[in-house]
Order: sequence, then structure tokens, then C-alpha cells
Amino acid sequence: MVIIKYMSVYLSHSEEQTLRFAEMYARTLKAGDIVLLDGEMGAGKTVFAKGVAIGLGISDPVTSPTYAYMNDYGGKLYHYDCYRLSSGAAAEALGLTDYFYGGGVCLIEWADNIKDVLPDCCRRVVINKISETAREIVYD
Ligand SMILES: Nc1ncnc2c1ncn2[C@@H]1O[C@H](COP(=O)(O)OP(=O)(O)O)[C@@H](O)[C@H]1O
Ligand SMILES: [Mg+2]
Repeated sequence: MVIIKYMSVYLSHSEEQTLRFAEMYARTLKAGDIVLLDGEMGAGKTVFAKGVAIGLGISDPVTSPTYAYMNDYGGKLYHYDCYRLSSGAAAEALGLTDYFYGGGVCLIEWADNIKDVLPDCCRRVVINKISETAREIVYD
């Protein structure tokens, strides 16, 4: 079966606009949603995650989870950075996949590294660097 997803595009001209956009995007999320957050290094994935956290009413500051694999914001938001994970099996062994069903929103950076253990119905946000300050955000 072919599943056609309709993607939308938002053009951001600053970090602040990306934050505000992500804050609004968060309002379209419900508990249990898994969002794959793609884009090259420095595209703005972590900035986007900060905006989502604000939108979900999380007051803790969001930092890059690069050295922790995943940060848990009170069970409301699970923010993953899978950059250093080599396989889905590695994520499973660390217990990271349990949180996919933890009742919070999962935001996953570098999800491709663990694609074999991702659920089928994920939402996706791709951030493309257009210039030093412009970003094309493609999302569903
Ligand atoms: N329009 C924009 N949206 C998001 N970030 C931007 C934008 N313009 C410039 N930036 C800068 O790009 C960088 C993005 O960093 P970060 O979110 O950590 O990237 P990633 O997590 O994708 O590696 C920040 O330094 C931010 O200030
Ligand atoms: Mg990041």
C-alpha cells in the first residue's frame, strides 16, 4: 500500500521565527506522536525542539541531548539525538524505544540511524538550510 502524505512548507528567516513556528506546530501534536526531525548539522533541529517544548508548556530549558541520547521532559516530551547510535538494536538495548509508547511526544533527531525500530506512523519535519539565516521547514 502506498501512503501519500501531504507536506507543507514554512520559510523561516531567523532562529526566532523557527522557535515561534515550532511553538505553533506543537499545538498540532498529541500524546504518543512521534516526530522525525531531519536536517543537516546546524539546520536548526534543536532550535525547533526548543519551540516545541515551549508550545507544550515545558518550562525547563531544552538542551541538545547529544551526550545523553534522549532527554525526558517530565514524560511530556522525549527529545532524542540518535547521531551516535549505530543501529536500531543499539537504541533498543539502551531502552530508548520504550519511550515511543510512553504517552509523551517523541522528537527524534538523526532518526535514520535507528530506522529499523521506528513505528510506521511517524510525522516528519525536515529543515533545509537555505542561507546563513533562512530555513525551509517541510512538515506534516
Ligand atoms: N532561521 C533559523 N532557524 C533556526 N536556526 C537558525 C536560523 N538561522 C540561523 N540559525 C542558527 O542555526 C543554528 C542551529 O543550531 P541547532 O538547532 O543546534 O542545529 P541542529 O540541532 O540541527 O544541529 C543556531 O546557531 C541558530 O542560531
Ligand atoms: Mg541538534
